[in-house]
Amino acid sequence: MKKASHISFFVLFTVGILLNSCQEKSAKVYTEADVNIIPKVAHLNITEGVFQFNENTVFVVSNEEQKQAVKLLIDKFNNAANWNLKITAKTPTSNYISLALDNSLEQEAYTINASTSHVVLKASSASGFLYAIQSLRQLLPVEIESDTLIKNIDWEIPNVQITDSPRFKWRGLMLDVSRHFFGKDYIKETIDMLALHKMNILHLHLVDDQGWRIEIKKYPKLTEIGAWRVDQEHLLWNAREDNNPDDKGTYGGFLTQEDLKEIVAYAATKGVEVVPEIEMPAHVSSAIAAYPELSCHGEQIAVPSGALWPITDIYCAGKESTFEFLENVLLEVMDIFPSKYIHIGGDEATKTNWEVCPHCKKRIKAEKLENVEELQSYFIKRIEKFINSKGKKLIGWDEILEGGLAPEATVMSWRGVKGGIEAAKHGNDAIMSPVGYCYFDYYQGTPDLEPKAAGPVTTVSKVYQFEPIVGELFQEEEKHILGGQANVWAEHIPTEEHSQYMIFPRLTALSETLWSPKESRNWNDFSVRLKSIMNRFEYLDVNYAKSAYIINSKVKTDIQSKSVAITLQNEFPDSDIRYVLNDADLNSEAIPFTKPIVVNRTTAIKASLFEADKPINHVFKETITFHEGVASKVDYLTNYHERYQGSHAFNLVNTLRGSKDFRDGRWQAWLNKDAKVVVDLGEEKNISKVIIGSMVNQKNSVYYPTEIKVLLSHDNENFTEVGKIKKPFKVDDEPELKDFSIDFKAQKARYIKVEAKIDKSDIEVKEAWIFMDEILID
Ligand code: ACM
Ligand code: ZN
Repeated sequence: MKKASHISFFVLFTVGILLNSCQEKSAKVYTEADVNIIPKVAHLNITEGVFQFNENTVFVVSNEEQKQAVKLLIDKFNNAANWNLKITAKTPTSNYISLALDNSLEQEAYTINASTSHVVLKASSASGFLYAIQSLRQLLPVEIESDTLIKNIDWEIPNVQITDSPRFKWRGLMLDVSRHFFGKDYIKETIDMLALHKMNILHLHLVDDQGWRIEIKKYPKLTEIGAWRVDQEHLLWNAREDNNPDDKGTYGGFLTQEDLKEIVAYAATKGVEVVPEIEMPAHVSSAIAAYPELSCHGEQIAVPSGALWPITDIYCAGKESTFEFLENVLLEVMDIFPSKYIHIGGDEATKTNWEVCPHCKKRIKAEKLENVEELQSYFIKRIEKFINSKGKKLIGWDEILEGGLAPEATVMSWRGVKGGIEAAKHGNDAIMSPVGYCYFDYYQGTPDLEPKAAGPVTTVSKVYQFEPIVGELFQEEEKHILGGQANVWAEHIPTEEHSQYMIFPRLTALSETLWSPKESRNWNDFSVRLKSIMNRFEYLDVNYAKSAYIINSKVKTDIQSKSVAITLQNEFPDSDIRYVLNDADLNSEAIPFTKPIVVNRTTAIKASLFEADKPINHVFKETITFHEGVASKVDYLTNYHERYQGSHAFNLVNTLRGSKDFRDGRWQAWLNKDAKVVVDLGEEKNISKVIIGSMVNQKNSVYYPTEIKVLLSHDNENFTEVGKIKKPFKVDDEPELKDFSIDFKAQKARYIKVEAKIDKSDIEVKEAWIFMDEILID
């Protein structure tokens, strides 16, 4: 008895623990914070309980499209859970996911209703069901992305009611496969990733100067010659040399019509439409290399291996044979791509050959055109007529607005959003793809820490601020803004891994700007979900950038206390950033960053993101160099340019040094004028040295000053020159930073005047910028 009671106590105790743990498990209360779906759904409601997948869960479908949609999850469970979930047409009593047609829902809309016994997905179209499945996927633990068995995990989702639909109907990504060639498998992988993000357009940039990438059966030389260039891959894009047309090209490749049809069919099963871009009249050196008669001059040219600017070898707009060629090409293109849209480029044509070409001149006269801009407009309108006659619509970059817009054309606005607004006001459709937000060939973090890229920095949080509807558009005009698109120009992107790196996670941010209601946009909320989807990327083996974790600094200057306050941050709020000063080691004793670090003497700061008490990721290092001028009043005798204002009044005395990226917000710049400033130390100080921080970047018209003078004064009226540097103009290729140091006999002064100038008689240029980041006074 005694023993028995002992046993029963033991049994009860054990059962109690088991019951308890079961209860604990099933009692997990989900909240909105557990739902990490990107793009954020329009409406979400969570109720108590979960739907638990197990090996007997079935999918109830009523047609092939629905079968196709559920295949994604069946494959995922097959890999991660080792279950072979079945599809059925008959609804069981419980433990099922059913797909039900609901024609009251809009084209791309869907709903999810998950209860403990079953889940119902509703939509009116194939794409709606695909999106519902993608949301279901993202409701499941991230481990569902694993391609090997995961044990000890509950494959459950919270009981939710979701109603969702996209804000914009064009949610695109452009892959440039010309500048560097990426193959069929990578393109399909990219389609899978678009589908995960409910993006629905893949724009393939198939033609450019440096490579023709689509097989055209009537013109085989386009790919025999135009798809290949002399291999200069060991050189940076802008450093590549001109090729001789007789040299054989060995770098390149192209997609056959079969490849492309396969891509199109694959994309269709994922809810993605493939839009081809066949550039004209410019960006076609590859075509002219294959068929020289397409240009005005008809001379043999080579396929360039790198940068080409300006682009003067363009199709002749005078010869009828040009249009015959293009119509034949487009007929084959339309046979491959069922999309309603054909993108014809239309950007960046330098029309100097048209000015002198007898055929083009004849055309201008015959068509009563004013100039070559109107000739481009004639060109595009003629092509549009042909495309329309085949039941398709033309898209072009915003240059197609110049000289008169084709009547039905859709404008892809890349030079900002201006072109898109103009098109919408004109009654034409537009797609917003402004360089500042949507060019994914730009850096996504501090350039020094990133692979070589184009342009300035476009961080993931900046992409998240992208808004396609801007400017004063009436409601009727707003309807013409179809949506937005990111473009991955591939000049500086030699490999597929690198391409993926440039796309993610920026595309993740873009997807939410294009899908989710504008009111729900919130970076802090998104950034939590971003971390969650990054865990999916880990399982999916996606080479995404982690630049958003990298720490950078911001400085505030205090004139009263003559100190600077440093803020350390990365793109994620609530990051565990810790730092040490000077020689200390960055270890578990490091100081958590919770408020700005106030510094009033030269100080080195080391910081890192911490996880589990250990520094991870890149170590941030910055030395705040103090000098007599820090936090002094600066009087600008000549104003800096509005484009480069740095941190305004204290920029030159805030200790913050600029990087080689002249747009990093740490530089002030003067255009075509001398830079003249006076630093007021507030009191007389003994000084013997002034250092001026500057940079050169001649490609961007930034030059070193050719002369810098330093003058001192006690009263801000009478100045005495104490030193001068003359630096004769020199052709420097690579951007560089330089401190110009002017030493002189120690003396007392309160006012220090710096005058920097560029002698334009030395440099025959229209634009000359002087850049300064700091004036160090000691
Ligand atoms: C473009 O970036 N030239 C469209
Ligand atoms: Zn011509």
